[in-house]
Amino acid sequence: MQNKMELLDQINKEHLPQHLAIIMDGNGRWAKRKGMLRAFGHENGAKSVRVTVESCAKLGVKNLTLYAFSTENWNRPKVEVDTLMKLLVSSLKKEIKTLQSNNIRLNAIGNLTNLPSGVQKELQEVIEKTSENTRMTLTLALSYGSREELIQVVKKIAHKVKNNIISEEAIDESIINQHLYTHNLPDVDLVIRTSGEHRISNFLLWQIAYAEFYFTEVLWPDFSENHLYEAIISYQKRERRFGKTS
Ligand code: IPE
Ligand code: IPE
Ligand code: MG
Repeated sequence: MQNKMELLDQINKEHLPQHLAIIMDGNGRWAKRKGMLRAFGHENGAKSVRVTVESCAKLGVKNLTLYAFSTENWNRPKVEVDTLMKLLVSSLKKEIKTLQSNNIRLNAIGNLTNLPSGVQKELQEVIEKTSENTRMTLTLALSYGSREELIQVVKKIAHKVKNNIISEEAIDESIINQHLYTHNLPDVDLVIRTSGEHRISNFLLWQIAYAEFYFTEVLWPDFSENHLYEAIISYQKRERRFGKTS
């Protein structure tokens, strides 16, 4: 791999993804390879989160969305779910400083009411404290599932149609966008998934319609600043056609 400066030199700051979304996968396998418990992998994954968040903000990425816990992840053993929730609270407490010093606003998407009350409280606090920050919006997808999101969109719109708030004919892409958890975010430009899996796992199905994909074998706790830059360089070499001809 080239060094950090060589990689940074290749990045065109005028052509960054407006919205980068990352499926942070491979914590468990990382720990297993080291003969450690899965929790150790999650703790080290939290370090990669900090590095990635700071690097994105410094680079000039305006929106970063991290898949931290899916609706399906509730089906993991209770000890692992509890560990992840505890880690979330301690990371929020610890990283508020990082968010403030980097002028980053925290946002969260997902079925947040399913989260333990301690997590909800901490999350709310950090969201409020960082609400005036303008450099980058960091969105955590927590208890997030795209199908669940789309179901609640359909329900809300159906309710409005039934009560004559909007007409059936008025339903278009923009109406759907307005009812998504991501209503204040642009479409995703680039999705990165670590750990060698080539799947979406119920992440932002609507929002990735024209996103570029970058898959890497690197396990999330090993994902570094340089890996991030490599992904962005790859993205910048692609021609996005949006269905048109070049
Ligand atoms: C990603 O790592 C973190 C979460 C899904 C919460 P995993 O825990 O899925 O790690 P692997 O895929 O089992 O290695
Ligand atoms: C996707 O990873 C969810 C998160 C990264 C939070 P998983 O490890 O849960 O996905 P699958 O099970 O490999 O599809
Ligand atoms: Mg996984």
